[in-house]
Amino acid sequence: MSTRKILVTSALPYANGPIHLGHLLEYIQTDIWARFQKARGHECYYVCADDAHGTPIMLKAQQQGISPEQMIEQTKIKHQTDFADFAIGFDHYHSTHSEENRELASMIYNRLDEKGYIKRKTISQLYDPEKQMFLPDRFVKGDCPKCGALDQNGDSCDVCGATYSPTEVKNARSVVSGATPVLKDSEHYFFDLPAFSQMLQDWIRSGSLQDEMANKLQEWFKDGLQMWDISRDAPYFGFEIPRAPGKFFYVWLDAPIGYLASFKHLCQKQGIDFDSFWQPDSTAEVYHFIGKDIIYFHSLFWPAILEGANLRKPNAVWAHGFVTVNGAKMSKSRGTFIKARTYLEHLNPEYLRYYFASKLSSSITDLDLNLDDFTQKVNSDLVGKVVNIASRCAGFITKRYQGKLSTTLAEPELFKEFTDAGTSIADSFEKREFARAIRDIMTLADKANQYIDAKAPWVLVKDESKQQLAHEVCSMGINLFRVLMHYLKPVLPLMAAEVERFLQTELRWDNYQQPLLDHAIEPFKALMQRVDPAKVAAMLESSKENLQSEPANKAKVKAKPQSSGREPIAETISIEDFAKVDLRVAKIVKAEAVEGADKLIRLQLDIGEGETRQVFAGIKAAYQPELLEGRYTVMVANLASRKMRFGLSEGMVLAAGPGGSDLFILSPDAGAQAGMRVK
Ligand code: 2FM
Ligand code: ZN
Repeated sequence: MSTRKILVTSALPYANGPIHLGHLLEYIQTDIWARFQKARGHECYYVCADDAHGTPIMLKAQQQGISPEQMIEQTKIKHQTDFADFAIGFDHYHSTHSEENRELASMIYNRLDEKGYIKRKTISQLYDPEKQMFLPDRFVKGDCPKCGALDQNGDSCDVCGATYSPTEVKNARSVVSGATPVLKDSEHYFFDLPAFSQMLQDWIRSGSLQDEMANKLQEWFKDGLQMWDISRDAPYFGFEIPRAPGKFFYVWLDAPIGYLASFKHLCQKQGIDFDSFWQPDSTAEVYHFIGKDIIYFHSLFWPAILEGANLRKPNAVWAHGFVTVNGAKMSKSRGTFIKARTYLEHLNPEYLRYYFASKLSSSITDLDLNLDDFTQKVNSDLVGKVVNIASRCAGFITKRYQGKLSTTLAEPELFKEFTDAGTSIADSFEKREFARAIRDIMTLADKANQYIDAKAPWVLVKDESKQQLAHEVCSMGINLFRVLMHYLKPVLPLMAAEVERFLQTELRWDNYQQPLLDHAIEPFKALMQRVDPAKVAAMLESSKENLQSEPANKAKVKAKPQSSGREPIAETISIEDFAKVDLRVAKIVKAEAVEGADKLIRLQLDIGEGETRQVFAGIKAAYQPELLEGRYTVMVANLASRKMRFGLSEGMVLAAGPGGSDLFILSPDAGAQAGMRVK
């Protein structure tokens, strides 16, 4: 096996918020893969950094009354502590607000500019006259230009699903100051993405992306690629563009360059040849692990920029799906928006590493952290199967056989079956089919337990004439356990380190096929506690408590113009008015995502008497569509139909909550039937 040179990255988390379980899926996935490559003897580096620039970071620091530099420094320390506690083994963790990144971003920009890939154009954008700054889309709010719904985002409507430009919003206001924005001209710098169209089409189809992602990207080519605006006006927290005073690189320009900056720092520290990884003809491999939501940046802008700057492109960009908790989007009010730190205060990080691994594949499907399943799986697989093998055998070795394993192997065939499985388990790790690897490892764990059950060493040890056999059986169990822990080492590095101490041997790919014979081991100590459901419940409770300390912060961001903190009270209506509303129990027969609408779910509702209705509901941030099917809800059945871009919406489903992932559809108690009128 020849040694490969590999550079691996995970997406850079923004430096204005805590790491949560949604982030952790990616870091755990990448970390397992990088640990696996290192264990196989490859020269593999895993780097990451905080993504420190941009308007939200600048404004948040202002809110906190500190400089952005102070804020990103504090956040970086917290992020690094969280990662370290989850055993994420970065070779280096950097910041995009670093000298290396400034130099690399300028160098790349200069190369692009020299080759004519940077264009200048004056554009008109919304500007906050009070705060004296241009407003990114998400900092504008107002009424939907299509359906008139109040208080919608600057770029899309939660109610009707329309997307639009912030300049179209009615009664627009700045989220920062509450002022009415005005249009203002400014010269912007654009990257000529269309010039790379052919190269990108070829690259995307060259195996660099998962098929699902490559197919998705075809949509963008259909409409033709657009010039990419890479500049932002002051005030902006970022790097000033060379020869363009008052103009800054847009955060997404220098963020991926942060991968290079972090690696460059590592190279300087360890004497690694940076250029051998990044020159155009490099034979080193580069892989980016990302979430599927940022594929556009990584598979269009990023490869085009690298190509334009005469640098190599990544071998692959690997996307993963989102994390849901108990079947729904993570929600603050349900307590399922779980921060890394809150998790760590209650539970062992390796439970989560194992659970994610047991469900991860190379696809982009979402991953549900079902907390009952999590508890059950960790307890049954890790404690009940794997650790159990050692705990059933080790005591006898220590007490009866002077802590030494037997000199011969009781069942060489069985041992060989375990070590032979390494080829396909390694293949699964290599292909990011972690769930398959875990399944195979657990099948072996079952076999090891069956072997011990059949031999019953606890019976053998009582018979003086069977001491040698008992010793061999227990030693066999320990040897099988060792092979399993060797396979699990990238997933459970902390437990593997404990096992290495216990077995007095390093778990390695170049020695796992030789059994440990006539070898002294340490007395067995419990390697992992069972997941305590009370601690899981306590974690959810603390996550809800976290929420209670946050509204002040949130209110500032939202800056609603009302003077009191309360929503205005609606005008009263007469009972006759109320009687006009036909509220009905509806059964959700079908629920599916709507292509091209990030927030909508298309619902097919059975409203009794053989009648079905199609309703588009803006609840996608809160629900996975397939989990809605079969549920009952309440709908307004006599709302005038509305024609939407995606089809006709024939009513409205009732839901409560502030919106986004915190939205709860109303459900009747058990016993209600489709078509029942709500009184
Ligand atoms: O979406 C995000 O959280 C970004 N901060 C990811 C950046 S990844 C890379 F391009 F830097
Ligand atoms: Zn609307």
